[in-house]
Amino acid sequence: MRTFSLPHTGTEVSSIVLGFMRITDLDDDRIRRLVATALDVGVTVFDHADIYGGSPHTCEKRFGDAVTLTPSQRERISIQSKVGIREGWFDFSKDHIVTTVEASLGALGVDHLDTLLLHRPDTLVEPEEVAAAFDDLHASGKVLGFGVSNHTPGQIELLKTAVDQPILFDQVQLSIVHSPLIAAGLTANMGTEDQSIDRDNGLLDYARTRGITLQAWSPFQSGTPSGVFVGDRENYPDLNVALDEIADVYGSTPSAVATAWITRHPADIQVVLGTTSPDRVVEAAGGSDLRLTRQEWYRLFRTAGHTLP
Ligand SMILES: NC(=O)c1ccc[n+]([C@@H]2O[C@H](COP(=O)([O-])OP(=O)(O)OC[C@H]3O[C@@H](n4cnc5c(N)ncnc54)[C@H](OP(=O)(O)O)[C@@H]3O)[C@@H](O)[C@H]2O)c1
Repeated sequence: MRTFSLPHTGTEVSSIVLGFMRITDLDDDRIRRLVATALDVGVTVFDHADIYGGSPHTCEKRFGDAVTLTPSQRERISIQSKVGIREGWFDFSKDHIVTTVEASLGALGVDHLDTLLLHRPDTLVEPEEVAAAFDDLHASGKVLGFGVSNHTPGQIELLKTAVDQPILFDQVQLSIVHSPLIAAGLTANMGTEDQSIDRDNGLLDYARTRGITLQAWSPFQSGTPSGVFVGDRENYPDLNVALDEIADVYGSTPSAVATAWITRHPADIQVVLGTTSPDRVVEAAGGSDLRLTRQEWYRLFRTAGHTLP
């Protein structure tokens, strides 16, 4: 498993994060096997959100009911959750942030979150309210660190006008196929290409310069509406040939190579897996260790449908 030192804290973290959005229908034993495999291969971050599973805290509770971490496992693992999305609206009010975290802790069966992310930007955000919520949660030991998800640099700067804690993470949608975050910068100045439209306001370079770690959600999905591109030879024939051939070079698998495409980036981007299969967790951990050549990396990017000037 590839690891790196997290900016701001110096903690060694795994490049692979296990997400629990899709565990609603798994029985306790399958959840335990998934978690045990993740621990075995060196995953150090578990990703949750209050909204996963439909009704509030469903997946967090499935996890909490199924899994009992030993004190040493708990110490090694960073448990992360998110807040701020409500049904048809967004809510970064202090009251909602604090009460939701308390409910997440109860559902997960833990006494603190290692990180709390603001899930999606709330345009009605009042940075002072967020700061007050973060300060309370931090002072009471209920949350150790903070971050955001799906935020632009400007939105992070706005939060920072009041929030004192470092913003450690921005969790964003990123895969070889869905990579506007990377693609726009590669066609900067190219007025004729849609690809050059910067939809993230320079987030990649901003995050690198500020020590904000990007976490890639839906790493195997092609976009919205989503579908898995690995093995989808009808819609992504050239990409799948490239994934197969590069996998052969390393004695690896196409999914591992798709993981490596993200972890190869020097920004130290974490890959947030959504799989419910222990075998795929092992595959991804192996993929994080592959160091693709520049030619391989750009070949995957091009065959996924992007252009280079
Ligand atoms: N911050 C946000 O806004 C946001 C949004 C969405 C998700 N997330 C987080 O990101 C995590 C990952 O999202 P995701 O589930 O969409 O990501 P994903 O890992 O790209 O997709 C996983 C899904 O793809 C399936 N799959 C089929 N073939 C696969 C292959 N060859 N390799 C890997 N997976 C394959 C998996 O099935 P099997 O289970 O059978 O393997 C699973 O249903 C979530 O659990 C959540 O923690 C965050």
